[in-house]
Amino acid sequence: MIRASLKQAEPRNPMPRIIGLMSGTSVDGIDAALVEISGGQIDLRVELIKGLVHPFPEALREQILAVCSGEAISMEAIAELDDAIARAFAEAAIAVNQGHSPADLIGSHGQTLFHRPAPGGAMGYSLQLGRGALIAKLTGIPTVSNFRVADIAAGGQGAPLVPPVDAYLLGHPTEHRCVQNIGGIGNVTYLPPTSQPDWQQQVLGWDTGPGNSLLDLAVQRLSEGKLSYDADGAWAAQGKPDTDLVTDWLNHPYFAQSPPKSTGRELFGWTYLEECLTEATARGLADADLLASLTELTALSIVQSYRNSLPQLPDRLLLCGGGLRNGYLIERLAHHLPVVALQSTDEVGLNADYKEAIAFAVLAHWHNLGLPGNMPAVTGAQGAVILGE
Ligand SMILES: Nc1ncnc2c1ncn2[C@@H]1O[C@H](COP(=O)(O)OP(=O)(O)O)[C@@H](O)[C@H]1O
Ligand SMILES: [Mg+2]
Repeated sequence: MIRASLKQAEPRNPMPRIIGLMSGTSVDGIDAALVEISGGQIDLRVELIKGLVHPFPEALREQILAVCSGEAISMEAIAELDDAIARAFAEAAIAVNQGHSPADLIGSHGQTLFHRPAPGGAMGYSLQLGRGALIAKLTGIPTVSNFRVADIAAGGQGAPLVPPVDAYLLGHPTEHRCVQNIGGIGNVTYLPPTSQPDWQQQVLGWDTGPGNSLLDLAVQRLSEGKLSYDADGAWAAQGKPDTDLVTDWLNHPYFAQSPPKSTGRELFGWTYLEECLTEATARGLADADLLASLTELTALSIVQSYRNSLPQLPDRLLLCGGGLRNGYLIERLAHHLPVVALQSTDEVGLNADYKEAIAFAVLAHWHNLGLPGNMPAVTGAQGAVILGE
C-alpha cells in the first residue's frame, strides 16, 4: 500500500527576511539589501536591516560592458559569464547576510546584458544573467530571479518593474508624487494621491532615458580611462550647456515616444555618445561644456517627459540612485522644475542608495505570496501577472 506522506504545511513567516540583489546599467557594483518585510501590497512595510555594494571582479565588469556594447560572444562564454555573475551575486548576498541568521529568500534582478522592448507590438526580449539556481545553491537560500520574462510573455516590456513597489511604499494621501531613479538609465514612477478611490489604476512609470550613462561614458573618454564618473558633477559644473545642441539632442525619437517605454545601453551607450562627441567637436565645445550639455540633456529629458506624459507636474519629486550624488545634475533638475519640491527618498524613510535592491526583495516576497508584481499600465502588459521564477 502506498501511503502518501503528507508534510504539515509550515505556517508562513509573517515577517520574512529577504535579500534583494540588483545591478543596473552602470555595472558599478551589486547592490545588496537585507530587509524585513511585512504585509502584502496596500499594507506593505519594509525595514532595511543592512545594505552594501559588492564590487564586481574588474575582469568580469569589463566583460559585461564589452558584451553590452555588442562584442561577439560564444554560447560557452555566455554560460561561463552567467555563472560568474551568479557567483558575484551570491557573494553579495552572503556579505549582506553576514552577522544575521540566514535570510528566508533572495530576490535577484541579475545583470541585464540585452534589453529590447516590444518593437511595434512584437514581443520584447530582455536578458538578465546570474542564474538564480546557482545563487540558491551557493547561498543555501531559495532564490527568485528572471522577473522580467512573465511580463514580457504577457505582452509587456518587462520594465520598469519598480513602480508598484514605489506605489505601496511612497504614495501620499494628498500629494501628487514622482519618484525618479537616476541610475545608468533614468526611470520615473508617478503616484497620484492615495486618497483617490482608484489611485492604483492611475500610477504611471517609464524609463526617462539616460541617467548617468552618457555622463559616465563621456568622463571615461575625456579622462582617457582615468575616471569612471564625474564626482558630484564638479567637472560639468565648470562648463556651460550649449542650448542649441541640447535642443537638437532632445529630438531623439525615444524622447518623443509616449509610455509605456523602456530603454538601456542599446540606445544610450557608446554609439550614441560618439554622435554627441562628433557634434560637440564640430561646435568647438570645451570638455566641461560637453559634460554640462550632456547633464542638461539628462535633466531636460526627465523634465520634458513629465510635461508630455503626466496629468500634472508633481507636488514633490523624490530622488534616488547614484545620480543623486551628482550635485550639478540635481541643480539643473531643480532649475527646470522650480515649483516642485525636491527631496531624496531617504527623507521620506526609504533608503535612496538601496531602493532598487529593496524593490527586488519586495517582488520576490510578492512572488512567494502569489501576488502579481507588474503594473500593466506601466509595462504595457495585457494583464497583471506573478513575476519571477
Ligand atoms: N559621488 C558621485 N558623484 C556623481 N555621480 C555619482 C557619484 N556616485 C555615484 N554616481 C553615479 O551613479 C552611478 C551608479 O548609480 P546606480 O544607481 O548604482 O546606477 P545603476 O542602477 O545603473 O547601477 C555611477 O555610475 C555614477 O555615474
Ligand atoms: Mg549600481
